[in-house]
Parts: sequence; structure tokens; C-alpha cells
Amino acid sequence: MPDDGRQFGGPRHVAIIMDGNGRWAESRGRPRLFGHHAGARRVREVVQACPDLGVEYLTIFAFSTENWKRTQKEVAGLMSLFRSYIRKEAKDLRDHNVRVRFIGDRPGLDIKLQNLMDELEEMTAECDGTNLTIAINYGGRDEVARATKRLARDVAEGRLDPEAIDVETLPRYLDTRVLPDPDLVIRTSGEARISNFLLWQSAYAEYEFIDTLWPDFTHEIFADLVASYAGRDRRFGGVKA
Ligand code: IPE
Ligand code: IPE
Ligand code: MG
Repeated sequence: MPDDGRQFGGPRHVAIIMDGNGRWAESRGRPRLFGHHAGARRVREVVQACPDLGVEYLTIFAFSTENWKRTQKEVAGLMSLFRSYIRKEAKDLRDHNVRVRFIGDRPGLDIKLQNLMDELEEMTAECDGTNLTIAINYGGRDEVARATKRLARDVAEGRLDPEAIDVETLPRYLDTRVLPDPDLVIRTSGEARISNFLLWQSAYAEYEFIDTLWPDFTHEIFADLVASYAGRDRRFGGVKA
């Protein structure tokens, strides 16, 4: 047992690339948005499973900086789904002591959605249970570029000495600055790629690529993945003692 109370040496921070909504819908002869709605309904169960599994941080990829390439209809449907998700789930999240944060390029989103995101963050700011981070209009490269811009501004304005920059510096400028690095990254739907998710932060994460499509994901599958993480030997470049 780790001395911080986690069970089975499990992951403290799990990040999930929730993929496969479109294929789930298409296999049922339904429009892609039907799959996105089914996918959104899976989130609650996974969030609520975290405390028992000892997962303190859950980060979920909802919309990437590249997802704007989809049809206008799908993008608009997703944005509307994010708004209704926040409106519907806000109270339940707070009642379950979930602290919600958003990462990604917020100014690129419509103002109504931005306001709902700000409100949910404020509303759950005092919650000290599961830390749920939702990535919307998020891309790892975009995040590093935005962080670098702020860092360069600090150098230009004399607040940061370029000689003092090391691997601890950039993370302080990332959207994830208050989060620990993910220990386990799960991607559903059988694709073995990371699609621009948490590039810097996942340098030493363990990965699980599973065939299940996101709308079929359950707390049992989640629990199995968390348990199998505990059996892994993370060496971080070193050798076993
Ligand atoms: C993931 O499901 C959700 C988003 C990217 C918004 P997809 O929409 O990518 O589903 P597939 O990969 O086409 O099946
Ligand atoms: C990654 O899935 C983004 C999200 C899950 C939000 P995509 O379906 O967009 O990624 P690719 O296109 O398969 O790389
Ligand atoms: Mg996909």
C-alpha cells in the first residue's frame, strides 16, 4: 500500500481519450451525434468510480484543437452538448464533491460555453473530492505554444531569467499547472495514438489502448485497467532496486 492511502499502488491521475462515439453510432445506423450523447452519459459513472479506486485526478479529452475540421453540424452539436452537459451535471458534480477544471484554449470557444465553464469551476472550487479536468479545444502542441508565449513575455519583461529555465519551468505555464502528471492514459476504440493529448505531461505515463468504444465503457472496465496498472513496473529511466 502506498502511504498516501491509494489502493493497490493504483494511479493517482488517470487521463482518458474518450474515442469511438462516431463508430458506435454508425454501427447502429444512427447519426454521429447520437454517439456523442451516449458517450457523455458514460462520464458520470466513471467520475463516481474514482474515490473507491483511489483515483484523485481524472482528466478527460472531450474536444481537440483538430476536431474543428469536422462538419459544421457535428461541431455545433458537440458545442451544444457541452453546454447542456454542464447545465445538467453541475449540481450533481458539486453534490459528489467533484472539483471541475477545464483545460484548452478557452477564448476559441463561444462565449456562452465559456461562461458556463467559468461558472462550473467557481461553483465547485471548494470541493475537495475527485479533481475532474475536462479538455475542450485542447491540443498538447497548442498548449505548449500558448505556455511558451507567456514564458517569453515574462522573459521580455524581466520577470524570468532565461538562464534559470529548466524542466520545472514550462509546466508552471501549462494549462495543467496545478495537476500532477498523469500516471495512466487510457484510449478507447482501438486506436493506438495519442492525438495531441497531454504531450508534455505524459512523458512517463503508462498507456492502455483498449478496443471498447467509449459509449460502451463501464466502471468495471475502468476498475480492471486501474488494477492492471498496479502490476506495472515503472522505472522512469532507472533500474529496479
Ligand atoms: C470521440 O469520438 C469524441 C470526439 C472526438 C469529440 P469520435 O467522434 O472521434 O468517434 P470515432 O473515432 O469517429 O468513432
Ligand atoms: C481524439 O480523438 C480527441 C478526443 C477524443 C476528443 P479523435 O478521434 O479526434 O482523434 P483521431 O482523429 O483519431 O486522431
Ligand atoms: Mg475518433
